[in-house]
Amino acid sequence: MSTLAQEAAIDGLRERLAEARAAGGAVGFVPTMGFLHAGHRSLIERARRENDVVVVSIFVNPLQFNPGEDFDSYPRDLERDLELCADADADIVFAPDRREMYPEPPAATVRLGALADVLCGASRPGHFDGVATVVAKLFSIVGECSAYLGEKDFQQLTIIGRMAADLSLPVRVVDCPTVREPDGLAVSSRNVYLSDAERGQAPVLRRALQAGAVLVQSGETSGAAVEAEMAAVIAAAPLAQLDYTAAVPASTLIAAGPLQGEVRLLAAARFGQARLIDNIGCRAG
Ligand code: PAF
Repeated sequence: MSTLAQEAAIDGLRERLAEARAAGGAVGFVPTMGFLHAGHRSLIERARRENDVVVVSIFVNPLQFNPGEDFDSYPRDLERDLELCADADADIVFAPDRREMYPEPPAATVRLGALADVLCGASRPGHFDGVATVVAKLFSIVGECSAYLGEKDFQQLTIIGRMAADLSLPVRVVDCPTVREPDGLAVSSRNVYLSDAERGQAPVLRRALQAGAVLVQSGETSGAAVEAEMAAVIAAAPLAQLDYTAAVPASTLIAAGPLQGEVRLLAAARFGQARLIDNIGCRAG
């Protein structure tokens, strides 16, 4: 295991990475908001296998939270995160404070198109512009790298992949599979908000997606019918408050006629204080 370095300064991180690159090292980057779990660990481990230097960023990005959302209460535990990073054999944890990242409110930000206004973007206006702004900044700081992102946040993954391509950023975005609890619940930092009763019902999201996939695979091409089926499964869980279900083309995430080819099924629901999301892929036709 390498010794984990902790860095809070942008210039300091750049210097460390310049040294690593001069020695011919490929950089793997895992952007996070901390409170790391098994999902993050799998990203760090994959970055470790595929690169010479592994950087994990930990920054709870205020730009991606709307007023009334959980920015202040978002779980934070840097000591525990550092232990997990050391254990997963990361090399550098970049944990800047807010002043380092945003010495002033940014005048230049990333504005996304329609992809940011659907699904989670419809209930969290501006959220993905905030994500894209911080990720563009992190990619600019880290420089040429492979960036490891989880499919659990599929809309985020799609947006970041498009942003990197559209802006010709020197970053290869690597999609990594969702890590799940034994009962199917996708691991998430926000699962900590769930009461025991809510935790018991939360796997309904995954079951709804599976029911949707069965319908698609049996030949259903109406997105609306698949969405209604998934919503009905979620409605059977009394503690779930549905936000949306969606059956959309995997490449665009925007509904366009009958389902065909690669389809993404997505769902979001609130269980008490926790807003949980999940998704799976399937093939129509
Ligand atoms: O998925 C997250 O943890 C965040 O949205 C990210 C990509 C680190 C940007 O703040």
